[in-house]
Amino acid sequence: MPGAQKVSENLSAQIIHDEPFFRAVADEIEIFAAAYAGRLPVMLKGPTGCGKTRFVEHMAWRLKRPLVTVAAHEDLAAADLAGRFLLAPEGTVWHDGPLTAAVRMGAICYLDEIVEARQDTTVVIHPLTDARRSLPLDKKGELVEAHPDFQLTISYNPGYQSAVKDLKESTKQRFVAIEFSYPEPSIEAEIVMREAGVEAPIASGLVDVALRSRNLRGQGLAEGASTRMLIHAAKLLRGGAPLSAALRSAILLPITDEPDLREALGAAIAASLPNGLSLQ
Ligand SMILES: Nc1ncnc2c1ncn2[C@@H]1O[C@H](COP(=O)(O)OP(=O)(O)O)[C@@H](O)[C@H]1O
Ligand SMILES: [Mg+2]
Repeated sequence: MPGAQKVSENLSAQIIHDEPFFRAVADEIEIFAAAYAGRLPVMLKGPTGCGKTRFVEHMAWRLKRPLVTVAAHEDLAAADLAGRFLLAPEGTVWHDGPLTAAVRMGAICYLDEIVEARQDTTVVIHPLTDARRSLPLDKKGELVEAHPDFQLTISYNPGYQSAVKDLKESTKQRFVAIEFSYPEPSIEAEIVMREAGVEAPIASGLVDVALRSRNLRGQGLAEGASTRMLIHAAKLLRGGAPLSAALRSAILLPITDEPDLREALGAAIAASLPNGLSLQ
């Protein structure tokens, strides 16, 4: 990201100097600021590619806090967040994990797609998200009190979750939630224009394509085209790709491997295009 600087390569804490562009859709900035003022943990709920990560970057800049981002995955262990002893020439040496580093320095820690992590990993955040505001490092025998400026934010896409892969009730209930969804068409077009540097008619044409794809949600398609995908398509167009190729590469191919669905989506998209264009 331009204007961001890593505080430490290992811990990937960023100080964001330049304002990351974020187009607010509702009162999300005010709610997050109020939550931060009370140091409440925040959960950003919403589909992929709708601006959650950009929002956290914007808020970290606005609140002048360093940002530590961790992308959760199914092998993410508690020690990957908290830290571990590693072998060094002088013996074993403790290395803080990114969460511990954020807790000590007073950063905003953003755990992206937290539900991907194993449940035993998720419970590590419990003592940090209630009145204790502390992180026990059992292996090291240390109880780290959170820096007064520390705050925890997680993202969560309710669309993907199965019963097996869901946050525990006791985890969910610790968070203030802010809901994200794709913005209304005129705002989404503004975002696409701004992010990809295309003209208004192109941006609104792409938003129209997205709306059609989102109508197919639930009919086999897990998600419609995200704002991110529209920006990709717009950038391909800007780079000189023909319209049908840009839509095919940025939206149709990434979104599904299912031939029937691809055909249905291709037809739905083609219906919004100038006569005779096909995506197949
Ligand atoms: N409200 C918004 N304001 C500015 N840019 C946005 C907004 N929503 C989406 N974007 C754009 O879409 C891209 C994808 O958003 P991102 O924050 O990465 O999505 P998420 O984290 O929800 O998957 C961003 O890089 C940004 O270009
Ligand atoms: Mg994200």
